[in-house]
Amino acid sequence: MNSTDNTVKREPVSVVMIGAGNRARKYLEYILSTPERVRLAGVVDSNPLRRESIASRCPSLSEENIYSNVDDFFARGRIADAVIIATPDDCHYAHTMQAIRLGYHVLLEKPIAQTEAEAEDIARASRDAGVVVNVCYVLHFHPYFRTLRELARSGELGEIVAINHCSPVGIDRATHVYVRGGWGQKSTSGPLFTSKCCHDIDFLLWLTGSPCKRISSQGSLRWFTPDNAPIGASQRCVDCLAEAECPFSAVDLYRRRREWVKNFDVPAGHTLDDTIETELTGGRYGRCVYHCDNDVVDRQTVAIETDSGVLINISMDVFTTESHRKTHISLTKGEIRGDEHGITVTTFRPRENRYIDFSHTVGAPFHAGADLATVANFIDAVRGMADESATDIEAAVYSQHVCDAIEEARQKS
Ligand SMILES: NC(=O)c1ccc[n+]([C@@H]2O[C@H](COP(=O)([O-])OP(=O)(O)OC[C@H]3O[C@@H](n4cnc5c(N)ncnc54)[C@H](O)[C@@H]3O)[C@@H](O)[C@H]2O)c1
Repeated sequence: MNSTDNTVKREPVSVVMIGAGNRARKYLEYILSTPERVRLAGVVDSNPLRRESIASRCPSLSEENIYSNVDDFFARGRIADAVIIATPDDCHYAHTMQAIRLGYHVLLEKPIAQTEAEAEDIARASRDAGVVVNVCYVLHFHPYFRTLRELARSGELGEIVAINHCSPVGIDRATHVYVRGGWGQKSTSGPLFTSKCCHDIDFLLWLTGSPCKRISSQGSLRWFTPDNAPIGASQRCVDCLAEAECPFSAVDLYRRRREWVKNFDVPAGHTLDDTIETELTGGRYGRCVYHCDNDVVDRQTVAIETDSGVLINISMDVFTTESHRKTHISLTKGEIRGDEHGITVTTFRPRENRYIDFSHTVGAPFHAGADLATVANFIDAVRGMADESATDIEAAVYSQHVCDAIEEARQKS
């Protein structure tokens, strides 16, 4: 049974989750809500709290299908139709290649892998094995981004000539994920622009429908280094003399504002409050932002010229409280401005504006349903139904190629 059978699979597609963290929990919601289409056949996670939190939502999952490491899972051969790979970035390649070798269809979290060569290997292996490999480029399924693309490509406003796009990482996300968190070191998680903005690159390529001709980029780690620590700064915010004034304080972020705490694992018999205190006093999230082991950039700009002649400027902004992408598309007969809350379409002649409201999708759960639609689309592909989303591995490899070229350009600049 695979995508090349040209038959539509009727019974539910069986799926094993590899990696049972934040992303897997989102995809689980789709699985639980559509038992007629998909069923969970197993879960693999090295962290017992994580795998048990998923297993507890699926009482029919037998003990033998809850795995503490991938080798034990893969050693059993092919026990399901598909896997969802939502492990950290540096595991994607090995886990995906093992899954493909066993004939699993794969829904793979972004980024595909850590290098273009690895991404190409995955694409080649999936072609050879005749299995579906889709990448979780969720913007393809987000109502706001789909509309932006449809408007730009409709022809009503002529041809696209330029795009200015801001992708705000935001200061709290940046300190949590890319300074203190698991995506702060290039050796394990790759360049920050690739981890965060591979979505943007993939979306802009999908929007323009054209390969890139020229790429330049500037960016560096400007601020989160020991040299910039204020006088009196200690290794941890809980005992820091500069904490009260520090905009990046972990005490402020986690204890006072209680933001970014949803993914802290709360062990049995403990409360979230205890867990926050444990992090602040001994965990990675209590560390001073100037004394972490981060080496990824904290701002970056990118300029692209596509083969079709579109000039694209992208700014990846860390030092902002903004969290929504802003896009301005210049066309020959008009312009489009979007900020995720809405889209303004202006025609040059007649000189008219119209506004499309998207406030209902801002902050709506599961990226406004896009996470769930990503799984739905994958299940359709596994069942042998046509996939028009362009999130398959062949299209995604080009996005990875462009992300790699951007990092190369940044290093050379
Ligand atoms: N598509 C998106 O919008 C989006 C958003 C955020 C993150 N991501 C990507 O999703 C992936 C997962 O991110 P997350 O936020 O869920 O991280 P997470 O840390 O919450 O989850 C990862 C899980 O993998 C487990 N794990 C780590 N190594 C393992 C191994 N060798 N074997 C088995 N399990 C292992 C961890 O214990 C953890 O539970 C990453 O690649 C990330 O870049 C995608």
